[in-house]
Amino acid sequence: MSKSNDELFKNVISHAKEYGFVFPSSEIYDGLSAVYDYGQFGAELKNNIKTYWWKSMVQMHENIVGIDSAIFMHPKIWKASGHVDGFNDPMIDNKDSKKRYRADQLLEDKIAKYEKDGKTAKAESLQSAMDEALKNEDLPKLKDLIVEHEVVCPVSGTRNWTDVRQFNLMFSTQFGAMAEGSDEVYLRPETAQGIFVNFLNVQKTGRMKIPFGIAQIGKAFRNEVIARQFILRMREFEQMEMQFFVRPGEEMKWYAYWKEARLKWHLALGTATEKYRYHDHTKLAHYANAAVDIEFEFPFGFKEVEGIHSRTDFDLSQHQEFSGKKMQYFDPELNADGKPYGNYIPYVIETSIGLDRMFLLTLVNSFEEQELSEGDKTDSRTVLRLHPCLAPVKAAVLPLTKKDGLPEKAKEIMDRLKLDHNLIYEEKDSIGKRYRRQDAIGTPFCITVDHQTLEDNTVTIRHRDSMEQERVPASELERIIGDLVSWKNLLGS
Ligand code: GAP
Repeated sequence: MSKSNDELFKNVISHAKEYGFVFPSSEIYDGLSAVYDYGQFGAELKNNIKTYWWKSMVQMHENIVGIDSAIFMHPKIWKASGHVDGFNDPMIDNKDSKKRYRADQLLEDKIAKYEKDGKTAKAESLQSAMDEALKNEDLPKLKDLIVEHEVVCPVSGTRNWTDVRQFNLMFSTQFGAMAEGSDEVYLRPETAQGIFVNFLNVQKTGRMKIPFGIAQIGKAFRNEVIARQFILRMREFEQMEMQFFVRPGEEMKWYAYWKEARLKWHLALGTATEKYRYHDHTKLAHYANAAVDIEFEFPFGFKEVEGIHSRTDFDLSQHQEFSGKKMQYFDPELNADGKPYGNYIPYVIETSIGLDRMFLLTLVNSFEEQELSEGDKTDSRTVLRLHPCLAPVKAAVLPLTKKDGLPEKAKEIMDRLKLDHNLIYEEKDSIGKRYRRQDAIGTPFCITVDHQTLEDNTVTIRHRDSMEQERVPASELERIIGDLVSWKNLLGS
């Protein structure tokens, strides 16, 4: 990370805390690693991101419905999905520092170092050796590579390593009132399985016809070996996932559709196209026949924000086998030979985005420290240039002074507008300071009530990004603010 990007990211993290977006969890007890709480503005921003996703996926698609499945599920589900046996990270401990690392991450860091030092051939050969070892789950080979390339522990500086072991990322807990004799259950590591096991419930009760989708937003839990970069990799996080059920043989058409549709969803927020890229997977999971990541350029480099996976019929077939219940769909439509497609297990295209990662992206992408100096007057501001639909607060209502009946008039306006929007009323401090505070939390509009308001019932609307002001009739505010923050501005693009 270059110095300026490093600084920028640190500033984003402290801004998020200072302005009530994200707090370290259990902070008064010194925190809990890789767990975070969302503050008063963070919770609003997160809800607005969820609403944007839900509206785009469910409300805008007649053939997609949303569910909310439980976090606890039958333990056999995770056996069927492959998570009990295969949801592992290779980890290694340094015997001196007692610190635990992901073996592949240590090697990735070494590869990055070789690249930085211009040792391209060494970087490439280590990369391919590591890829091969990961593919074959060859743990001794990973250890050999760590030894051979003289990887040292970043804390102790020594090369005193344990063997590499597999570490399952699922959290487990005891189910039932008595710990003794009760069953072990897992906290779900993805929301997707809650969709797969409800496939028939939704299809039958909703009379859904293929192709159709089931969407869900919810918590997921992973005991990540390394958690870093703030809320990028957390142990408790939220996913927004959609499984799209299609006819076998038609999955590539839908994969291409969702790959494009999902990037469009990101770009509609106004983010520069060059901040995004696709990363097509060349090494596929055993159940997938195509997979791509949508990556965003964070200050610390391009990182995955969303995955689009063609998961074949793997999950439904596994659940059919493990539960003994048929997971088939009867398709009455006629194929090219004029015969019904009949019974089959549908294929699935999945779109899976991390809500917290999207939150971080939104914060990083909207954060701007601006110099506003004019002549010999120096000034600056920190502004979150959030899309108005995502902004935690849509408008602030500000009486110019605390007297002359201005607060009463401002509160009257506030009471009318708050029926539709999340607003803030503030009368403390100078108007300039109040504008700056709203800029810092991304409030797109400030409505100022001044002495002229009492004469002609007009107010000013100050626009966050341009800082320009316009005078409008107070009686028109519902319509004007309603239009400015309407979801139509985002969903219609
Ligand atoms: N159902 C497929 C699935 O879970 P994934 O690539 O493991 O696929 C999907 O996760 C998305 O969830 C990622 O693109 C990322 O945005 C988010 N995600 C995964 N692990 C995360 C973590 N530890 N913390 C925050 N977000 C995470």
